Amino acid sequence: MITLFGATGYTGRKIAAELERRGLPFRIAGRSRERLTELSNSLPSRPAWIVADAQKNETLPPLFKDTRLLINCAGPFTDLGEKVAQMASFAGVHYLDTTNELAFVYRLQTYHKMAVTNHSFLLPACAFEIALSDVIIAKLLQETSAQHVYVVYHTPDTKISKGTRLSALRSLTTSWIGFQDGSWNGMVPAGKSSQFQFPSGVQTAIQIPSAEVFSVPWRHPVRSVEVWMTVSRSWGFWGPVVLPYFARFMRSIFGKWVYTLISRHDPLPVEDAESPFEILIGVQEQQEQDWRQALVSGKGPYTLTAKIAGYAASRVLGNTNLPNGLITPSVLFSYGEFIEEMQANGIQFTF
Ligand SMILES: NC(=O)c1ccc[n+]([C@@H]2O[C@H](COP(=O)([O-])OP(=O)(O)OC[C@H]3O[C@@H](n4cnc5c(N)ncnc54)[C@H](OP(=O)(O)O)[C@@H]3O)[C@@H](O)[C@H]2O)c1
Repeated sequence: MITLFGATGYTGRKIAAELERRGLPFRIAGRSRERLTELSNSLPSRPAWIVADAQKNETLPPLFKDTRLLINCAGPFTDLGEKVAQMASFAGVHYLDTTNELAFVYRLQTYHKMAVTNHSFLLPACAFEIALSDVIIAKLLQETSAQHVYVVYHTPDTKISKGTRLSALRSLTTSWIGFQDGSWNGMVPAGKSSQFQFPSGVQTAIQIPSAEVFSVPWRHPVRSVEVWMTVSRSWGFWGPVVLPYFARFMRSIFGKWVYTLISRHDPLPVEDAESPFEILIGVQEQQEQDWRQALVSGKGPYTLTAKIAGYAASRVLGNTNLPNGLITPSVLFSYGEFIEEMQANGIQFTF
């Protein structure tokens, strides 16, 4: 049985529809009885539901009863995710989430041993961008002995959900982590800008905290990992000046006001299907050498996140020989099968 927590949010609903489409056995969970009833009634299999609130620990144990895989979409994960992940590894339940909050992913190291002991895995950051980049990085690093890795996200015109907006803010506030010279160290986010060559032309980008900063060195013996996000040319100039101060401000007592104001504001509904994205991935063996690159392009980041969660769920339910401990998407996925699955969803890979 799969339990989908945070099922009533934008991403959770998409994953519920995908599990339904795949005919996988699942139930839904969230904090609102009304929203769960409404969601269950809207789905053909009328899944059972569990009321659980990530901020009330005593409501969480039913999430793990008779559950083989818990899919967690209740974010921001920095605030809501750790107890859920901890209880899953304690109960020996496989755990998957859609976060890209670096500090939260970094924290999950704490539960690695517990998950290994209880024969379960913790798979954070299994959303579209990290899953795609993780699988391609694993492939490139298998073929070379590269030590330096970069990833650049180009998501022009993408509208984001309220959950993503809050998660991005939490990440800016908490994820002051970089990976240089073979170790994790403190780094204020968004402090650097650079330029990258995409097929559509040169794009300006700023450095961001993203899960690969943890997950790539966790799996591979690399020396540096940098993740970037493209921005306008003016943001490329002003971002590194303004954003580190904004990140510091968000850490202060006043930051909580900004966060509360934003959480009250509901952004426009996301129009996901046509939102294009490109992910440029580069690996380099030694400094001064040429980068070996790959480009992944497609549309519909949230829909794709749901497809990837559905694919992961089908691998868990159809497989008795599963990995243990804190893992990354490429550990669970089979490379050829995953690429085929993505190509069937319109994703293109250029090496
Ligand atoms: N990295 C990526 O590409 C990617 C892609 C998709 C999603 N995400 C992440 O996934 C998370 C959800 O995104 P979304 O688009 O679905 O946002 P959303 O529509 O705002 O949904 C947030 C979900 O969290 C639930 N929630 C909030 N507080 C809770 C609590 N105390 N206990 C239990 N549930 C609680 C909400 O329940 P209610 O329905 O009751 O409000 C809702 O189901 C975000 O953190 C987002 O960053 C990341």
